[in-house]
Amino acid sequence: MILVTGGTGLVGAHLLYHLVKNDEKIRAIYRTEEKIEAVKKVFSLYSNDVTLISKIEWYRADITEVPAMIPAFIGIEKVYHCAALVSFNEKDYRQMRKVNIHGTAIIVNLAIDAKVNKICFVGSIAAVGSSLNGGLITEKNEWNPEEDNSGYSITKFGAEMEIWRASQEGVNVVIVNPGVILGSGFYTAGSGKLFSQVYNGFKYYTEGVTGFVGVKDVVEVMIQLMNSSIKNERFILVAENKSFKEIFFSIAKYFGKKQPTKNIKPWQTAIFWKFSWLLSLVTGKEPLLSKYSARSAHSVSRYSSEKIEKSLPFQFEKMEDVIKRVCNNFIRFQKV
Ligand SMILES: NC(=O)c1ccc[n+]([C@@H]2O[C@H](COP(=O)([O-])OP(=O)(O)OC[C@H]3O[C@@H](n4cnc5c(N)ncnc54)[C@H](OP(=O)(O)O)[C@@H]3O)[C@@H](O)[C@H]2O)c1
Repeated sequence: MILVTGGTGLVGAHLLYHLVKNDEKIRAIYRTEEKIEAVKKVFSLYSNDVTLISKIEWYRADITEVPAMIPAFIGIEKVYHCAALVSFNEKDYRQMRKVNIHGTAIIVNLAIDAKVNKICFVGSIAAVGSSLNGGLITEKNEWNPEEDNSGYSITKFGAEMEIWRASQEGVNVVIVNPGVILGSGFYTAGSGKLFSQVYNGFKYYTEGVTGFVGVKDVVEVMIQLMNSSIKNERFILVAENKSFKEIFFSIAKYFGKKQPTKNIKPWQTAIFWKFSWLLSLVTGKEPLLSKYSARSAHSVSRYSSEKIEKSLPFQFEKMEDVIKRVCNNFIRFQKV
């Protein structure tokens, strides 16, 4: 039997659909019924078969609570660990340490105890080192703890260290390090916000560059890696390196909306994140822009996916095609 954590998130929901379709026996961790409804919506994008979701054994637990997690591992042979807290808000740092590092340590300990055969962990390019000479970043670029890393980056690196510990304790592991993941179904949070913002007439763009990948490719690689003899390796998953300007313009094109017109400069985002931070101290609300989101909007990092392309019979879908589909599904979701 397979255990999936984070099954009610963007990656997890798409992963669950593909696992169910392959007739796998699945137990998925959830925290609220409401999020299972979100997974149902994702399933409805792929298939009219409403019985598919009932093939999942849902198990309610918080991954940071050991007593609740122990029974989840009964009869488990493989684990897909997708759960994480994704935030660039500094006030979430302690909670991110708890969920991302401590939660992963719990998954690892229970997997070792249950003699799980293999774990697939969803890491991030945030846990891969940057390039010193502006060249393509590969899996060999070492993450540097001395840099001014975001809390998210620190905790994703810490989580990866826990996964490597599992490999030392005899559990086979594979780690994927995706770029920004674009996919259908979760449009009000994370990378899904890029779509809702452009749809709602967001006027601004930046020229920073990073790696992007479609969610279907991420889950397809995860499943192929788990079903292969590959073990104890990490793989960057980036279909294309693109600027935020290119991504925003493509989204606007497929929505039939006006392209964003205002090119925001680094000094402008610097003022804005500081102002947002001050405002958040007064209002107690989440800042509209954090220091690290502002920085990543302008930084230029390009990634190589050569390792995965050489390891599996697999080709990434072009981001233009991914964006077109996600925009179409966004419109379908508005009508549901
Ligand atoms: N989205 C991206 O662009 C991107 C890029 C690179 C890497 N990643 C990585 O990909 C993985 C999945 O990301 P995503 O985009 O799918 O995130 P997401 O949509 O925010 O989903 C996060 C999932 O983790 C679950 N979760 C969080 N805290 C939990 C806890 N304490 N106990 C149990 N479950 C918990 C959430 O449950 P609830 O539904 O109950 O909140 C949800 O199912 C993460 O590891 C993330 O770091 C994401």
